Amino acid sequence: MAVEHIDYSKMDLDENAGSKRAIKAIGVIANDGKITYNDIENMLGARDQIKDFQILMMKYECALSEVRTKLDVLNKELSLINNRNPFESIKMRIKTPVSIYKKLTSRGIEFTLDNINENLSDIAGIRVICSFVDDIYMLAECLANQDDITVLQRKDYIEKPKKSGYRSLHLIIEVPIFLTTKKEYMKVEVQFRTIAMDFWASLEHKMKYKKNIENQEVITDDLKFSADLINQLDLRMQQIREKIDASGEERE
Ligand code: GTP
Ligand code: MG
Repeated sequence: MAVEHIDYSKMDLDENAGSKRAIKAIGVIANDGKITYNDIENMLGARDQIKDFQILMMKYECALSEVRTKLDVLNKELSLINNRNPFESIKMRIKTPVSIYKKLTSRGIEFTLDNINENLSDIAGIRVICSFVDDIYMLAECLANQDDITVLQRKDYIEKPKKSGYRSLHLIIEVPIFLTTKKEYMKVEVQFRTIAMDFWASLEHKMKYKKNIENQEVITDDLKFSADLINQLDLRMQQIREKIDASGEERE
């Protein structure tokens, strides 16, 4: 999940271009899957929904900022208490308009603003990369226990890895954002991983998005084997840290 900053202000807000857009929007359907950012812009323009789309994406960005701040606060407090940072880094991204379109249409759902909100829970995504597995559970619990957060879904792929070997803890949470006249609840997908799990997932992701790979089965087996090694390494590192924590005194 690369960090992507999209400049929604680049979308054409010229009100006079309505009919041109309506014609171009037909091209979206004829495009046969090869949809571009311009096609989405044209489609939204034809429905006079560019501004509404910008507002929706802005709300998801605000939700990301809220969750980011919550994690930063936890990191500051816990690093003072435990003498280590519970997470090493955070990556955030908003799903691109093209990815949103593709995900909805691949499920046979029409690309509308209501459908985006109702059917997709990963428009706003945060990936929290920790050094140790126990920090993942501690952080996730601290976040989930906050009284303005609702956990809608919890998938523990650390406890139960995917067949591929994929490990991470996923939470879909709902977080309030405070706008000028109202409070709205937005969904955010939070993925917690160790550094090693993240390393594995990015390599595996590279393979998934390549076509006609030679020796695919061998690579898949290698990845599965490596995922198990990574799991053992993560547990070992945690045990070593516990031993270090339990012995000796802090140097000045
Ligand atoms: P998506 O439709 O992909 O969002 O899947 P889902 O709704 O079933 O949710 P799931 O929790 O399985 O996966 C959500 C996200 O986790 C994906 O978008 C990826 O970022 C990541 N993920 C899940 N499975 C894998 C995997 O096998 N390999 C890698 N590299 N990433 C994965
Ligand atoms: Mg997803």
